[in-house]
Amino acid sequence: MKTVLVTGGAGFIGSNFIRLALKVRPDWRVVVLDALTYAGNLENLEGLEAAYPGRYRFAHADVTDAGRVKALFEEESVAAVVHFAAETHVDRSILGPTAFVKTNVMGTATLLEAARGAWKDRPGRYLQVSTDEVYGSLKETGFFTEQTPLDPSSPYSASKAAADQLALSYYRTFGMDVVVTRCCNNYGPYQFPEKLIPLMITRALAGENLPVYGTGQNVRDWIHVDDHNRGVLLVLDKGRAGEVYNLGARCEKRNLDLVKELLRVAAAVKGWDPVQTEGKITFVTDRPGHDWRYAIDPSKAESELGYAPQVPFREGLESTVRWYLEHEGWWRRVQSGAYKDFVQALYGERR
Ligand code: NAD
Ligand code: TYD
Repeated sequence: MKTVLVTGGAGFIGSNFIRLALKVRPDWRVVVLDALTYAGNLENLEGLEAAYPGRYRFAHADVTDAGRVKALFEEESVAAVVHFAAETHVDRSILGPTAFVKTNVMGTATLLEAARGAWKDRPGRYLQVSTDEVYGSLKETGFFTEQTPLDPSSPYSASKAAADQLALSYYRTFGMDVVVTRCCNNYGPYQFPEKLIPLMITRALAGENLPVYGTGQNVRDWIHVDDHNRGVLLVLDKGRAGEVYNLGARCEKRNLDLVKELLRVAAAVKGWDPVQTEGKITFVTDRPGHDWRYAIDPSKAESELGYAPQVPFREGLESTVRWYLEHEGWWRRVQSGAYKDFVQALYGERR
């Protein structure tokens, strides 16, 4: 049995990763470390302990807690770390940057130190889950490659850039077996309803206005969460130590087009009038420092590792919209009082 420590496993991408990994890696024992912030929910991992007895453990811990993290490495013989835990929402990082520095930078530093200590005699592999946002913004043309200089715009992306550089420094300085993935915007089930796609679906269901920032012409590059996670598994298996791998599905969409597309799907499923549904779109004050365009070139992962995303966008979007429509209980439960305060703080000011 190979023990893999997955941080942030109660969040969107982490919980989908764990479900996939327990299924396709029968020799893995997964130890989840998660602080259960507003974005982490045990409901996202429901049933796994019973479905995979002895192969799953949940540890409620903060990644910045050096004592707890070290103890976990002592209790478990960790062979690999997949580090998802982070503060992840750009708008929140604008309202309050320090939590991002604490979790994303200090949390990564804490985890790297614990791994370095534990792996002195029996080395393991460390995978840092990063984002294309570390590259900053593109204009209308061009793509991010692994050679694109880092130029982050938001406190979120700046903290992620610091974290991925710190991870790479452990390869160069200490010879630790480190790999980094940088992926584009994910969509799929269990995404917290602060992010664009679930936000729009849940607000449409609640009959609320649909806030599109600025002109809605900004471009994001989308990937289904399972395709991201298959890439993470490949990089963990076959990536070269000290290397960065961009992961993406070559699927650029302007925000406004994407919102209209998902509303058409929701309207068709729910039997709503599509014109009335689209009529709820409201152009609101732009996000400060809003990156114009993201577009990932994943050729290195494709040619070196045989990476090939499998989920066609239209299919993935439809199944995702249906998932939120069918899991109203889930997204209503995760919208805690603290989340409602955040929505008021962010959107109350935007007209
Ligand atoms: P998320 O916000 O849904 O989940 C984050 C998880 O981390 C939650 O379970 C939360 O409880 C946990 N967490 C937060 N602070 C913690 C702390 N101090 N200690 C322990 N656990 C803590 O995030 P996500 O969208 O699933 O993103 C996961 C990772 O993937 C992040 O590192 C993010 O930067 C990266 N990423 C995300 C995207 C995307 O589109 N969502 C794209 C590329 C990369
Ligand atoms: P988001 O899901 O926050 O991801 P990121 O900022 O990490 O790319 O936002 C995706 C895009 O959607 C981004 O260009 C900002 C835009 N957006 C809106 O127009 N309205 C919203 O209410 C939100 C949350 C995002």
